[in-house]
Amino acid sequence: MPLFSLVEVVKAFKEDSRQVRVLDGITLDVENEFIAILGPSGCGKTTLLRIIAGVEKPDSGKVVYHEKNMKVGFVFQFPTLLPWATVLDNVALPLRANGAKWSEAREKASKYLTLVGLQGFEDFYPRELSGGMRQRVNLARALAIEPTVLLMDEPFSHLDPLTAESLRFEVLDLWSLGVTTVKAIIMVTHSVDEALLMADRLVILTPRPAKIARIIEVRIPRPRDRRSPEFQLLEDKVYECLSA
Ligand SMILES: Nc1ncnc2c1ncn2[C@@H]1O[C@H](COP(=O)(O)OP(=O)(O)OP(=O)(O)O)[C@@H](O)[C@H]1O
Ligand SMILES: [Mg+2]
Repeated sequence: MPLFSLVEVVKAFKEDSRQVRVLDGITLDVENEFIAILGPSGCGKTTLLRIIAGVEKPDSGKVVYHEKNMKVGFVFQFPTLLPWATVLDNVALPLRANGAKWSEAREKASKYLTLVGLQGFEDFYPRELSGGMRQRVNLARALAIEPTVLLMDEPFSHLDPLTAESLRFEVLDLWSLGVTTVKAIIMVTHSVDEALLMADRLVILTPRPAKIARIIEVRIPRPRDRRSPEFQLLEDKVYECLSA
């Protein structure tokens, strides 16, 4: 039984008084797995995540969650930390919004900040942090609501290469150690390398209106070595699909 299913999801937006179709019938079963979504800019990747998160409604089709009370965490494409709130409160606020008491919310926030390596930075303000640390706060905030599904929209693309690389492995560690509530991760990325390094399956979308062009399974055990022949062979295959 999959964790959740996308069934013929269709979405259009109004542009200059005409309807422009963005998602053109996306059907996908998601299990306990790490999925990377790749596709050209503007094809509808963020829209698809928003539909999975339930903040956007599809015009037709549906998202079916097979478990009750499944929560979805979201690491956004663009920075969204509140500048006037401390790191701790940035993570605690969504929990407050869900009805937790301040003491509970802050306790949980602190736990997840520790998990992403930010113990000791609770009282800092976002402007006092590096880009990598800010992204760790974003991750802690998404994890703190204790989601079953974690959505990440190009989470490493604004970071310098070294920071991005260490965060990728930290996320993989959190994922494989099972120290969070997350069962499935869906990550949007423009990087074939990142997708192959991290994901169990790559879902490649066509240009807008997006359909699933191809699904590629990555059966290479982790931690993966970019220089291994199997990695490079698969990389060639993905680039072939993207340029087709
Ligand atoms: N709320 C909205 N109203 C109108 N048009 C929208 C809205 N949200 C998205 N769009 C349009 O839908 C299309 C897909 O947008 P989306 O942000 O999902 O693409 P994307 O694949 O995430 O792009 P990128 O790789 O650049 O992040 C774009 O043409 C965008 O202009
Ligand atoms: Mg996007």
